[in-house]
Amino acid sequence: MVDIFDRMKNNPGPLGQFADYAEGYFIFPRLEGPIGPRMIFQGREVIFWSANDYLGLCNHPEVKEADAKAAAEYGLFYPMGARAMSGETDFHLQLEKELAEFVIKDACYLLNFGYQGMVSIVDSLVSRHDVIVYDADSHACIIDGVRLHIGKSFTYRHNDVQSLEKNLERATKVAEANGGGILVITEGVFGMRGQQGKLKEICALKSKYNFRLLVDDAHGFGTLGKTGAGAGEEQGCQDQIDVYFSTFAKSMAGFGAFVAGNKEIIRYLKFNLRSQIFAKSLTLPMVIGGLKRLELLRTRPEIKNKLWENVNKLQKGLLDSGFDIGNTNTCVTPVMMKGTTVEATIMVKDLRENFGVFTSIVVYPVIPKGMILLRLIPTASHTDAEINTTLEAFRAVREKLDSGEYKRQADELVAKEGYSFKDM
Ligand SMILES: Cc1ncc(COP(=O)(O)O)c(C=O)c1O
Repeated sequence: MVDIFDRMKNNPGPLGQFADYAEGYFIFPRLEGPIGPRMIFQGREVIFWSANDYLGLCNHPEVKEADAKAAAEYGLFYPMGARAMSGETDFHLQLEKELAEFVIKDACYLLNFGYQGMVSIVDSLVSRHDVIVYDADSHACIIDGVRLHIGKSFTYRHNDVQSLEKNLERATKVAEANGGGILVITEGVFGMRGQQGKLKEICALKSKYNFRLLVDDAHGFGTLGKTGAGAGEEQGCQDQIDVYFSTFAKSMAGFGAFVAGNKEIIRYLKFNLRSQIFAKSLTLPMVIGGLKRLELLRTRPEIKNKLWENVNKLQKGLLDSGFDIGNTNTCVTPVMMKGTTVEATIMVKDLRENFGVFTSIVVYPVIPKGMILLRLIPTASHTDAEINTTLEAFRAVREKLDSGEYKRQADELVAKEGYSFKDM
């Protein structure tokens, strides 16, 4: 027997191993000031590229006014209890109706948080006889939902439709033997490197295989498609997505989430999602504030147009300067370079402190060893000057990386401080 607490000392976890070096700076950084393209980090102003506030609604005066008014009228907690017990209001039903229309589905159900909501959606949709087939790079909430599944599940190689098809063949055999069905899960947009899920190709497989499709479109909702209905609208296959999910934590600049689909499936989910039946309802300031946000998404196309103007400027600028931004076809803008984790952290520190540019840093094991990924999220609020300053800063730090300057500093740091990252 072991004391389970002893295990924590020996294995602090994939992020925990960096805690001493990274906490408060690279992980759990404390930012101050209103959320926007300029924030305060460690006492200095930085151009901020790390919020998924795509449409810049976090600090929008009409949104703030709606939130404040609803909070003043109802308090932050209203209604008490879960939806099923005492937490249903006309506002919840109104937002569901408007969201369903917006994403071109028959019905919609609100979720108090996206993560828990998705876990429960996966859990509710399948029985032990069913088979789940899901993208290997899926968000943690999908993976945790699959973990609850006591039947079979297969992953397919990330965004690889051939691999999906192979796994659908295997899944079909298992489902037929068990008397079950198949649920395929993908994201509409993969948030780390910004590729859209291959929804159109996946939907085309429906003519050959019998499955239902669940799409997590957290980054696509509000940013993609003619009306902002997301990756399915963008790819012309929204009607073939059986269960559509998005969080409010990105384009909607809020919290909470929703799931949409046909009336029967949404009714089934409403009565079966354990994370909603047994947890507090989304509160009214967020629901009423959600109605305001959705109104802006619907009636101010110029906001999404401005977002895309900025996305195109930033991505073109990076490509023109020879940066590798992978195969993003969304707003998510990854910048890939070669180097160790320690070099990456020194470069990011340099960017923040000497160039006033704040980006997120993604390291192994999320990306392969020896690779640095800095992730930029352009928003509708960024200015040309902020984009240009950032491009200049990126060119300058790349020169330092290529010249070996960060490597020298990394070697010195490791020798002096004795940092030993297991997975550098
Ligand atoms: C792809 C994806 N799905 C689900 C979630 C979870 O949503 P929430 O933050 O509402 O819990 C996130 C993060 O916000 C996400 O990026």
